[in-house]
Amino acid sequence: MAIDSNAERIPRHIAIIMDGNGRWARSRMLPRYVGHREGVKTVRRVVEACTERNIAALTLFAFSSENWRRPSEEVSLILNLFVTTLKKEVAVLHGNGVRLRFIGDRAAFSGKLRELIDESEACTRGNTRMELVIAANYGGQWDITEASKAIARRVVAGELQPDEITPQIMAAEISLADLPPPDLFIRTGGERRISNFLLWQLAYAELYFCDCYWPDFGPAELDAAVAAFASRARR
Ligand code: FPP
Repeated sequence: MAIDSNAERIPRHIAIIMDGNGRWARSRMLPRYVGHREGVKTVRRVVEACTERNIAALTLFAFSSENWRRPSEEVSLILNLFVTTLKKEVAVLHGNGVRLRFIGDRAAFSGKLRELIDESEACTRGNTRMELVIAANYGGQWDITEASKAIARRVVAGELQPDEITPQIMAAEISLADLPPPDLFIRTGGERRISNFLLWQLAYAELYFCDCYWPDFGPAELDAAVAAFASRARR
């Protein structure tokens, strides 16, 4: 499936775990929220760099199902940051031809945030330059569970026999079924784990880990990851 892009050695879909905002702040004796605020600036830089490099899709892990376990002040701060960022950035993304969408369980979010998410998806639906996917209250196990429920409902309705369930049937029910699967996965911040991100979708992705904290990540670090992807694709 990735034959076209491998010919040019450009990943079609990059998925990123943006880690290290807190440690970036701590290393400067600053409160964690400053790290998250800087993290938003990195998101802006990286989205721009990906559009310039003709990456077809970028998926960012903004808030995991596990992030609710953080202190409540930090959770509200991150969610407020989503609200202000969406209000500020959607017009810019739209102007740049970016289609925005969200994956994850929205039910736990405030009405205000859900409304902004719906509006930003509706406003950018027709854009084709790049897909920007924000994984918010997302977990890979949740995603697979939801897909399983959808298939179980089809079986109960008599549309499908259990023996007819194939990986293709599952893949069609999983988030981002309509996009090429990520061919490059990047995690910043030094940890070497997938941490319940896109478990199904990353089956064939090249995994790239870097020590740099997310606020320090930028076009040069992105190019290093793409170059590592290209050299592995060549081999
Ligand atoms: C990772 O650093 C940070 C998060 C998971 C929080 C949310 C992400 C942002 C604020 C970036 C902005 C995203 C959007 C889409 C607006 P960490 O807190 O896990 O850092 P640590 O491991 O050093 O503590």
